[in-house]
Amino acid sequence: MEFLNQHIIAPTAQHMALLEFLGVVVYAIHLPYIAMVMGATAVAMWLTFSDHEILNPRFARLAGDLIDAVLGSRFPMLVLGVLPLFVLPFIYTQWFVGANGAPLKYIVFAIPGVIVSFVILGLYRGSFAERKSNFHVHMGLGTLGLGALMASYFVLLSTVARLHDPEKWFRLKNLVILLLNWNVIWKFLFFVHLAFAITGAAMLFFLLRWSGERAASDREYAAFVRKFGAGIGLAFSFALPVFYLFYVFTSPDVVFDNTNYLLAASVVFVSMVLAYSFFGALQSREPRFGATTFSLFVLVFVLAGSFDMRAMANANREHARVIEQAAEKAALEREVELETAMAAASGKNLGEETFTKVCMQCHRFEEKLVGPPLSTVLPKYNAESLKAYLLSPVKVDPAYPPMPNPGLTPAQAAAVAAYELQHLAELTGGATAPTETQTTPAEPAAPTH
Ligand code: HEC
Repeated sequence: MEFLNQHIIAPTAQHMALLEFLGVVVYAIHLPYIAMVMGATAVAMWLTFSDHEILNPRFARLAGDLIDAVLGSRFPMLVLGVLPLFVLPFIYTQWFVGANGAPLKYIVFAIPGVIVSFVILGLYRGSFAERKSNFHVHMGLGTLGLGALMASYFVLLSTVARLHDPEKWFRLKNLVILLLNWNVIWKFLFFVHLAFAITGAAMLFFLLRWSGERAASDREYAAFVRKFGAGIGLAFSFALPVFYLFYVFTSPDVVFDNTNYLLAASVVFVSMVLAYSFFGALQSREPRFGATTFSLFVLVFVLAGSFDMRAMANANREHARVIEQAAEKAALEREVELETAMAAASGKNLGEETFTKVCMQCHRFEEKLVGPPLSTVLPKYNAESLKAYLLSPVKVDPAYPPMPNPGLTPAQAAAVAAYELQHLAELTGGATAPTETQTTPAEPAAPTH
């Protein structure tokens, strides 16, 4: 975290809003996948266990189909499961840059845990074929993988929930204290129930719709999958509104604004619609509501993710304001720097321009024109005194007529004075070194250097 903090510049307000949006996107694609992995592994293990106790070929087949559908290929595991995990720490460290005490390190803790669980679950899937002969190894791997995955997400989701309560951060000295909190526990129970419920939807959607031909060839099996999936979905989606309401009611007051009340209410409402759709799927004779329930689940994840991101932003308004001010200040400093650099650059041009346009009517450096050759008169001036002379010339040499006021602005006078003295120094080079050393210390406040 220290390392990250040093390499992050203060984000602007738009940047922070963008981070919140990115967080919702990551949660909306990552968490449904993780939930399905959890639910499908647990359900497959239960089916395998039952089949082991009393032989039941339909159970065995469904366990295999589930594992194939959810843990089947490495690509989604990498893209939906692992990659988003590395985005989360960046989102949160940027958002909380400079917020001392934010319990961010636990987010990083969870990442290796998730990766290890995926590796173990890969082995679990590989051992499915030998589950009869190697029952204990197979079940052991499943238990271990599932346990590690659940533990990692308990830590991850809890840490994120604890960001909603900045007043208590100073107490979160270790992981146990972080996790011992009702708000965090309700949130996790909601997530676990979501995991089982979305697995029910995945059975209706993936097993019956996508591989519909295979299932349709065996109507009895299809009816079994439909009943099983809809049954699990119904049972677990009933509990969703309850756990979500507990989570919302135990959240600190600071997380709420009108939008967040609305988001929380929508999560509860969509969960109820879900239970109703599962009920419909259970009642009907044909496979129905697979796509509907599945999309509704994604919607629940989007809504719940938006609630959490908004809760974080609401609870940490003060921090956000400090960060925004820092960003504004930095932007202002950059602007000032740029302006000075531009002024310096144009000052040079201004000097040269003024000289050729105005002074060259009467002066040359080496020869006498209307006025004296500048190389003879300039050495007695420094930038300040020359500027003063140019702004109001006085009579000096009786051999010449008086110099009319050339009507310069102070900036033009300063620029042309600097330009000429510079030019003089270039012309004379080292020859007039003593003159130069005379003038240099006398002009520490030279405007353009
Ligand atoms: C209209 C003609 C004219 C213009 C334009 C003019 N000068 Fe002069 N300048 C003179 C004359 C004449 C003198 C001699 C005045 C004197 O000795 O009293 C002089 C004198 C000077 C001197 C010497 C003063 C001294 O201490 O001896 C400097 C330096 C000088 N001019 C710089 C400039 C610069 C820089 C510009 C352009 C911004 C400029 N002049 C524009 C006519 C002009």
